[in-house]
Amino acid sequence: MKIKTSPSLLAADFLHLADEVKKAENAGADMLHCDVMDGVYVPNISFGFDIISKINRITDLPLDVHMMTCCPEKYLDVLKSSGADIITVHSDYTDKDTVIDTLKRIREIGIKPAVSLKPGRPAEDAFDFVPYVDMILVMTVEPGFGGQKFMADMLPKIKTLREYLDIHNPECEIQVDGGISKDTIGVCAEAGANVFVVGTASFRADDMGKALSDMVEIAKAEYYK
Ligand code: DX5
Ligand code: ZN
Repeated sequence: MKIKTSPSLLAADFLHLADEVKKAENAGADMLHCDVMDGVYVPNISFGFDIISKINRITDLPLDVHMMTCCPEKYLDVLKSSGADIITVHSDYTDKDTVIDTLKRIREIGIKPAVSLKPGRPAEDAFDFVPYVDMILVMTVEPGFGGQKFMADMLPKIKTLREYLDIHNPECEIQVDGGISKDTIGVCAEAGANVFVVGTASFRADDMGKALSDMVEIAKAEYYK
């Protein structure tokens, strides 16, 4: 599995968003993480589809959209037309059957479906969704805000999921999101994550290119050992 970085735009300078997107491109990002928050599913509000669509017009980087909202199924068509390449919904936003229907619909419209587990949800919560997803996102902070402290107690969950995926859906990737930096990326890669959302430690670094390449090197050394 390839090691990939997904800089989170939540940590970007919103007054210079176009420059920030170019900065991520030049820094060698593999995709761009777009956190959509509605103030209901999480206690914060971020940005919406119009911004995502404008970002899509100025970059060829895949857009990795993390939906922290109620009823994400309402927004799939507008996300498609806004240029989303991956849509992640949370495992607990509603009942299991509705989440599965949403994941199936995401695939039908030509977007990669992913499901996310909040810190309080066990690995087993994701098992029923495994046939329908290309990626599982393990939150390593409570969703809602950037710049929080990495939760090391999520590492066994990543390991359990990687072992389960190796049997049931080996192509499925594991993404981690929250507090990822040079200090924490190695243990996540060692546990089996290969896609890394990086907010503060990328956009707020003095040299984003160096920050990302250093992190990728650390992750590769642990993931492939
Ligand atoms: C938090 C968001 C994250 C956030 C990560 O709810 O899902 O994507 O931007 O930011 P850092 O890397 O600063 O923890
Ligand atoms: Zn996120």
